Amino acid sequence: MTLTLAVLNFLPGEGNPATMALQHHDEVVLLLGAPGAGKGTQARFLAETLGVPHVASGDLLREHRQRGTSLGRAAQEYMDRGDLVPDVLVVDMIVDRLNERDAARGALLDGFPRTVAQAQALDDRLRRRGGHVRCAIYVDVPTDVLVERLAGRWLCKTCQASYHEIFNPPASDGVCDRCDGELYQRPDDKRAVVSNRVAVYLRDTLPVVERYARQGVLQRVDGNQSIEAVKAALLQAISEDEPVPA
Ligand code: AP5
Ligand code: MG
Ligand code: ZN
Repeated sequence: MTLTLAVLNFLPGEGNPATMALQHHDEVVLLLGAPGAGKGTQARFLAETLGVPHVASGDLLREHRQRGTSLGRAAQEYMDRGDLVPDVLVVDMIVDRLNERDAARGALLDGFPRTVAQAQALDDRLRRRGGHVRCAIYVDVPTDVLVERLAGRWLCKTCQASYHEIFNPPASDGVCDRCDGELYQRPDDKRAVVSNRVAVYLRDTLPVVERYARQGVLQRVDGNQSIEAVKAALLQAISEDEPVPA
C-alpha cells in the first residue's frame, strides 16, 4: 500500500506528472462504516485531500429517486425499509460513475461496497483496469451511538452536507452553511428503520471490512470522538501509507 501524501496534495490535472502516473484507478479509497458512523461528514475533505471525487452510493440512489429514474423507482422500497438495494443495480451504478472522466484516477467510495459480492465486483473491475483498492478506511463507532446521531441529523437538499442538531449544528436553523440550501431529515433515519439498517450492516457489510483486513489494506479509525478528532485520525491514517524514502 503506497499512498503518498505528496501525490495526495496534487489535484487531478493533465500537466501534472504525479497524477498522470496514476491514470488507472490507482487511487480508489473506500470509506466503510455503519449507518451514522460519520462517512458523509468526513468524505468531502478526505476526497479533496486525495484529489479524487467523492462517490456516495446512497447520495447517488437518492438523486435517482428525485429524478424518478427506473433505478430510483426500483431502489425506493429497499431504501425505505433500510434494506440493501440489489447488488446488480448498485454495481452498475458505481461502475458507470467510475467511468466518468473526473474519476480517471479513482474515487473516494462512501457506502460502497456493502456486500462481499459488491466487493468482488469492484475488485474484478479494478483489476481489469490495472487498478486496485489502495486503502479501505473503517470508521468504527459502537452501535449504541448510531441511533442518537441519526435521530438528530439534518442534510442539505442541494449539496448533501450533513449536520447534527447538537454535535454539528448549522449557523442558522434549517439552512446549509455551505450553499444556503434547505436542510431536511432523511425518512430512513426513523428509529425502526435505523435498527434494520444497523442489523443489515452487521450481517452484510462487516464481512466486507474483514475482507479488506485480510487483503492488508484496512485502516481502522476510531469514529467515536469529536468530528475534528476523527478528521485528524483520518489524515493520520492516509499519511501512514506514505512510502518510506529509499
Ligand atoms: P447511505 O446513504 O449510504 O446511508 P448509510 O450507510 O446508512 O450511512 P449514513 O449516510 O446514514 O451515515 P454516515 O456514515 O454518512 O453518517 P453522517 O456523516 O451523515 O445508504 C442509504 C440507503 O441506500 C441504504 O440503506 C440502502 O438502502 C441504499 N444503499 C446505499 N449504498 C448501497 C450499497 N452499496 N448497496 C446496496 N444498497 C445501498 O453522520 C451521521 C450524523 O452524525 C450526522 O448528524 C452528523 O452530523 C453526526 N456526526 C458525524 N460524525 C460525528 C462525530 N464524530 N461526533 C458526533 N456526531 C457526528
Ligand atoms: Mg452518508
Ligand atoms: Zn448545502
